[in-house]
Amino acid sequence: MALGLVTAGESHGPALVAIVTGLPAGLELAKEAIDADLRRRQQGYGRSPRQQLESDEVEVLAGLRRGRTLGTPLALVVRNRDHANWTWGMSPWQTDDEPTGKGAKAVSLPRPGHADLAGVLKYGHGDVRDALERASARHTAVHVAAGSVAKTLLRELGIDVAGRAVEIGGETSDDGMREATDAARKDRDTLGGVVEVVATGVPPGFGSYAEKGDRLDARLAFALMGIQAVKGVEVGDGFALARRRGTEAHDEIDPGLHRRTNRAGGLEAGVSNGEPIVVRAAMKPLPTLMRPLDSVDLASGEAAQALVERSDVQAVEALAVVAESAVAFELARAALEKLGGDSLDDVRAAHRQYLERISAQWQPR
Ligand SMILES: Cc1cc2nc3c(=O)[nH]c(=O)nc-3n(C[C@H](O)[C@H](O)[C@H](O)COP(=O)(O)O)c2cc1C
Repeated sequence: MALGLVTAGESHGPALVAIVTGLPAGLELAKEAIDADLRRRQQGYGRSPRQQLESDEVEVLAGLRRGRTLGTPLALVVRNRDHANWTWGMSPWQTDDEPTGKGAKAVSLPRPGHADLAGVLKYGHGDVRDALERASARHTAVHVAAGSVAKTLLRELGIDVAGRAVEIGGETSDDGMREATDAARKDRDTLGGVVEVVATGVPPGFGSYAEKGDRLDARLAFALMGIQAVKGVEVGDGFALARRRGTEAHDEIDPGLHRRTNRAGGLEAGVSNGEPIVVRAAMKPLPTLMRPLDSVDLASGEAAQALVERSDVQAVEALAVVAESAVAFELARAALEKLGGDSLDDVRAAHRQYLERISAQWQPR
């Protein structure tokens, strides 16, 4: 069975939920490792006070016994602690209580750049909140929990995946990124940036050129583009390759079948080539602005300013963690396609056997 993921949960609802299917039995998971990734997602210089308010923690409801996967669906839950302030506004059930607390008043001021306007038109919602609660990136928390599980599986195969912010507000040095964030905060504005995810230890042969949906480059691009606010994806040198000549664009093959350069980002013809996999994602500036843009009040039809709600100045470091998780999950899926089995021992044995078969020509560096 292919590795699968389905999630549910609203930003201020009771909890976020993920169900991961297709994991082999016998994979040892540690709550601390998943919680550490959840904390990494919440950190970052440009985050809002909500991140201090809520310290995310994973709960497991199914698929795990004494810390080992059972080979059955794994159910992960991350509670929204902030839900305590939204119990009326985000109650799943209609109740007779008087409206109180956050979310009690309908939102009618769509933010340019967010799901608000498209969401209410598409679903016929009368309250913009009905759209924004799910569109919000809050539920990336359970994606990170699922990605953490995927990273644990990949580590069993010697594969490491790491994401980092490489550019924020046009700045590439740590100091510059911080200064740009401070300046945007002072101006009550927001920033975007670029994150890079590198996967090492991936052997040649993950993914396939047989069909476009099999291509690992396409699948990684899909996984990254599926994250909120991502507007561009690059594999290897990506767009820069378009401006080079062929003699400066490809990676020459050395004896030992390794490459002198890695302009392809470890992927040729949608298949891993044994070099580190390198992908980048561009994030647009966050659409919730403390200095709101022009919009329309949907209740009156009059010109108005967009909704102002507690929000980050930039979330590029958080995106780096979310992107790392997305890449890890897709690589774990590709790993299990190539080496899959019902138990981790089966997967390990298939991995050993595959490396053994290609070892006459290719060996890890
Ligand atoms: C980790 C992360 C955190 C985000 N935080 C915010 C935020 O605080 N405020 C905001 O307006 N948008 C935030 N976003 C972006 C919005 O969720 C996103 O722009 C919106 O859902 C519209 O989708 P689109 O940008 O893909 O078109 C965040 C995105 C990510 C990945």
